[in-house]
Amino acid sequence: MDQCLHCRGLQRLCRFLLLQKFSSQSNFDRQMYHYGTFPEGFSWGISSSAYQIEGGWNADGKGPSIWDRFTQTTNTIPDNANGNVACDSYNRLNEDLYMLRALRVKSYRFSLSWSRIFPDGTRKSLNQKGVDYYNRLIDGLIAYNIEPMVTLYHWDLPEALQKVNGWESAEMIDIFNDYCDFCFATFGDRVKFWITINQPQTIAWSGYGLGNMPPNVVDPGYRPYIVAHNLIKAHAKAYHTYDDKYRQLQGGLISIALNADWFEPADVNVVREVVTADRAMQFQLGWFAHPIFKNGDYPDALKWQVGNKSEIQSLPQSRLPSFTEEEKNFIKGTADVFCVNHYTTRVVSYFTAALQPHSYESDRDMREAEEPDSPTTAIPNQKAVAWGLRRLLNWIKEEYGDPEIYITENGAAVEWDDFERVMFYKAYIDEALKANNLDGVRLRGYTATAFMDSFEWLYGYKFLFGLHHVDFTNPDRPRTPKYSAHYYYNIIKDNGFPLPDDEKMLHDCRQTGLVHHSFDTSSAQPLRLSTNCPSQNGCTDQVSLTLLSSNTQKVRWPAVWKY
Ligand code: NOJ
Repeated sequence: MDQCLHCRGLQRLCRFLLLQKFSSQSNFDRQMYHYGTFPEGFSWGISSSAYQIEGGWNADGKGPSIWDRFTQTTNTIPDNANGNVACDSYNRLNEDLYMLRALRVKSYRFSLSWSRIFPDGTRKSLNQKGVDYYNRLIDGLIAYNIEPMVTLYHWDLPEALQKVNGWESAEMIDIFNDYCDFCFATFGDRVKFWITINQPQTIAWSGYGLGNMPPNVVDPGYRPYIVAHNLIKAHAKAYHTYDDKYRQLQGGLISIALNADWFEPADVNVVREVVTADRAMQFQLGWFAHPIFKNGDYPDALKWQVGNKSEIQSLPQSRLPSFTEEEKNFIKGTADVFCVNHYTTRVVSYFTAALQPHSYESDRDMREAEEPDSPTTAIPNQKAVAWGLRRLLNWIKEEYGDPEIYITENGAAVEWDDFERVMFYKAYIDEALKANNLDGVRLRGYTATAFMDSFEWLYGYKFLFGLHHVDFTNPDRPRTPKYSAHYYYNIIKDNGFPLPDDEKMLHDCRQTGLVHHSFDTSSAQPLRLSTNCPSQNGCTDQVSLTLLSSNTQKVRWPAVWKY
């Protein structure tokens, strides 16, 4: 049942107060460095996805996916790059396992290539060699005590299913469910963390609105809503299959990875701007999170905006489809934990968008701008705004009833120097720590992106997110840990940023006052990174990270670092 108006009003007020609380923070407060550690058992992970790393695009019976078809036919990707070989992980499983072991991660997030398992997308085409590959990977992880966090669908739809209309068709709900059912039955004795779909908002908007990603349908006003509708139902059905058939025996959990930027209001003292920022959150994250984590239905902001626009556009009905009561009941509550992928923050302000052409983007009635004071990353529109992560986590806590949260992706592509990536992780993870330790957000895990340099979708191999360097000019695809891998290793080892001994006395004095932070800002606070090889650092076995030497040469302090 829908919540009463009074409760909804109160909730909205809480979110406003939250925005006000943070947005009125001084820059100095925002930059304070917080020492502390995460709770015991915190899940430190690293991520990849099948198309980005596996290669072997037609090896051993694998069927083509929409990304195979797209990259092999388009000329819009830099250097006409594709994932035909990528990091060749299909043939280099042991190297991957070695690196994961050396990094000492607690979990590894990877995805299954649907068309490697079912070449034509359906069970009748089962490819045992594909299944064997994932069995070896999962067994290898378990042997090293690394929890497999498995995404069932990370954008690489079997091409055969696209030919019968892909996610535009409601038939996909059952087809996806059968694929998931097979994976639960086959791998679920060892996989205890399932993610049904990665970033459905990207699938709906980039795949069917902008059309810059496969299946390259350009229809900004209609199809994204239809596709999202089917994706939500497909997710819910897979959840119920796990819940009904496997959970009791296998004891795992299942969720969906939603992408969320933080949208900061241009002026927190203007109600309309705060409402606009909230609406921006609802259009991106709430589109999927509201039905799944709240009441089975779309957020009011979405229903209201799209409904009103459609009416003014003289359409017979809203471009946003609606769920029946039965569907709402089926969808609500279909995630055990909240999984969020986060990369950046944007500043938004109110704007009355044109009525034509019909578009999800203009349905939002807002303008976006970059956060002015933050460092850029290599990717346009992805500035490194670490404080946005803390705000986002607090917003999720308020909006969705304090769920357990996993950050399932966070990272940066950097233009020149891996040292910038180190600074990115240092600042972002510290903000996650503040959310957990100071704000009471129930953060359960953090996943760095990416495991290694890999095929970065529309950017090919031009912008790379890896903590490990991969030499793509060498057929052996040698991998080498970067400085950031060492840094992340140390964070994992320390379970955060424990207060260093030489700061303790100072800190004790401060504790008599109200200050819980170090006075260091992120920029002034030293890195405290041991450049020793981790194997000299307490590892008892022979697995170690070997530092990429060219990157150590480049390490230097930036003159000004505005975090
Ligand atoms: C989100 C996607 O899930 C992931 O595959 C990609 O590498 C990152 N964004 C970085 O762009």
